[in-house]
Amino acid sequence: MATSKQLQFIANDAVALAVREGLSATPRRLPCWLLYDAIGSDLFEQITELPEYYLTRTERGILERYAGEILQQAGPSLTLVELGAGTASKTCILIEELLQRQSRVLFYPIDVSPSALDEAVRQLGRQFPALRVNPIAADYTGGVHALSRISGRKLVLYIGSSIGNFDIPDAIRLLRHIRQTMRPGDALLLGADFAKSPRILLPAYDDAQGVTARFTRNILARLNRELEADFCLDLFRHVALWNRRDSRMEIYLESTTSHAVFIPALDMDLLLEAGERIHIENSYKYTPGMIGELLRQSGFQLEQSWTDYHKWFGVHLARV
Ligand code: TRP
Repeated sequence: MATSKQLQFIANDAVALAVREGLSATPRRLPCWLLYDAIGSDLFEQITELPEYYLTRTERGILERYAGEILQQAGPSLTLVELGAGTASKTCILIEELLQRQSRVLFYPIDVSPSALDEAVRQLGRQFPALRVNPIAADYTGGVHALSRISGRKLVLYIGSSIGNFDIPDAIRLLRHIRQTMRPGDALLLGADFAKSPRILLPAYDDAQGVTARFTRNILARLNRELEADFCLDLFRHVALWNRRDSRMEIYLESTTSHAVFIPALDMDLLLEAGERIHIENSYKYTPGMIGELLRQSGFQLEQSWTDYHKWFGVHLARV
């Protein structure tokens, strides 16, 4: 059994390794999971409530409006599973609807964050006494493995548009992996953001209040806290670009002047040019055609899609 001090080192090691690798690469990059420490997770919660960030509220609206249809289409006697459940705040809508159709509902939320799962169990337990919650703390690979041992007809939820943060080949690999744990009759419910005008997309990733800029710059603040780095946050600009050819938003931190940064924990000297960018995240925006193709290449068949009035966001039901 590792002590908490040892665990801290292991956690820091993962950060150190990722930072060393990403910041030595050309072009430089940092993995997007670094965004979500306690402060970053809190800032992301704030992002989901910004007027410009339409994604969360649009998907919630679709689920509210079509929960009945979605469950009808998925089939009778469902067991719910959710990948990357977090605190499962949007899942409540489906759970509430499902409890009106069947007296007992089993829910397996899967997430890497044990604290988010605890929160989900507490909230859901209070809200739905007839719901049985079996949390699984695991990453996607471990979580997907646990999926195959669940009996009964499954509806596997992968909502929130996290699929958009994977490059297409990785997204296909992940969906294929999920598919292998599903049996005929099971269904996948996939949430994905649609491609749309950059007039809508750009502000969603670069809001007027600057919350998103604080969110990305927090990655550097985190490296200052955890690796004793001396990043000066004022020397970095948050940059959000629409890449039409690849149908994705690209997020960077851009150094505004030529300057040096030292990371003691890695014994690493970093020389950044004026205008040099560190890549943080891609967020793919799917056309309906791309969704069908993604699912087909992953071994699924798209059965039905639901969207909002503006066709900004899509929720898709697929079968093996
Ligand atoms: N993965 C989310 C998305 O693509 C998270 C996100 C929102 C995000 N705004 C961001 C990630 C800005 C990095 C930078 O919508």
